[in-house]
Amino acid sequence: MGYRIAVLKGDGIGPEIVEATLRVLNKISEIFNINFEFKEGYIGGIAIDKFGDPLPDQTLELCKNSDAILLGAVGGPKWDNLPTDRRPEKGLLKIRKELDLFANLRPAKVFDPLIKASPLRKDVVKGTDMIVVRELTSGIYYGEPRGIYKEGDKRVGINTMKYEEDEIRRVVRVAFEIARKRRKKLTSVDKSNVLEVSKLWRDVVEEERKNFPDVEVEHLYVDNCAMQIVRRPSTFDVIVTGNIFGDILSDEAGVVVGSLGMLPSASIGERYALYEPVHGSAPDIAGKGIANPLATILSASMMLKYSFGETEASETIERAVEYVLESGYRTPDIFEEGCIKVGTEDMTDKVIEGMEVIVSQK
Ligand code: IPM
Ligand code: MN
Repeated sequence: MGYRIAVLKGDGIGPEIVEATLRVLNKISEIFNINFEFKEGYIGGIAIDKFGDPLPDQTLELCKNSDAILLGAVGGPKWDNLPTDRRPEKGLLKIRKELDLFANLRPAKVFDPLIKASPLRKDVVKGTDMIVVRELTSGIYYGEPRGIYKEGDKRVGINTMKYEEDEIRRVVRVAFEIARKRRKKLTSVDKSNVLEVSKLWRDVVEEERKNFPDVEVEHLYVDNCAMQIVRRPSTFDVIVTGNIFGDILSDEAGVVVGSLGMLPSASIGERYALYEPVHGSAPDIAGKGIANPLATILSASMMLKYSFGETEASETIERAVEYVLESGYRTPDIFEEGCIKVGTEDMTDKVIEGMEVIVSQK
């Protein structure tokens, strides 16, 4: 028996980067004697084309019968004009909700060989290694009432930011646990000077902090946090926040450390977990063999760590990625003068070779 992985390649560059990642996982299987069973399902635009639904029932079933889910990317211009509830993104929002993937982990760590890719000064960004823990299945993304309706002869748009205390508590606990295994610092982000829902958020963090006395806690308003992330990025360890603040701050943290093409993510619930790169489907470069597979490869590394507890295998991938970057290999999105430009396939080969080197050094 091995780990059952649902493979959802999705749209655009999704298929290329996921196939590259499966090659890396097959190598892991060989080196560490871990077995994987891959089963493929459809999500996003390709699922709309085939089944008229961005998340068909059989895909959901497949995910529910797996130990973890690996996802590429969804969306593209072809489906951009569909109504909101039939767009590829709806597949993402629905899978998060259906599988109760409430904690979204988005690490933003600077890779030294890529430090020049950051828009910030080197001395500011050096050493940055943070992880944003974003609540993913509630808040304003899902709150009711919502919609656009008529009030007299005017149109009114409405969304609702709502959190139940248990929804806050469970994600805050995940964040505390992660902080405990890292540098033991937690920044909770809210807008409690204005929003009641944020006041409740802060109260729950204060209650939970009693259970984690070893972790230092900082509260920041979201506007201030957005500033501090560009001002002193290296001082953050774990950031925990609600759905929409986390959406925004994780993009900001991502760009601060360099290429968005490098960022992995994990979306975790009590029972299920989904791993995907943070970047999108990049339809403009799809099929050209030049997409950067590293964010997806690093997402698989997170899967090994968080879903399967295979720490050594997970670290081998991470170290191999660092090794490849140190050796000067770059896909076009992260290319700079003096480096060696490679496509998706070659980059993947280099990571696989890198894994052999790392393992042989032990
Ligand atoms: C993300 C994306 C999604 C989100 C969109 C595509 C629905 O921006 O995963 O961050 O807002 O959650
Ligand atoms: Mn986003």
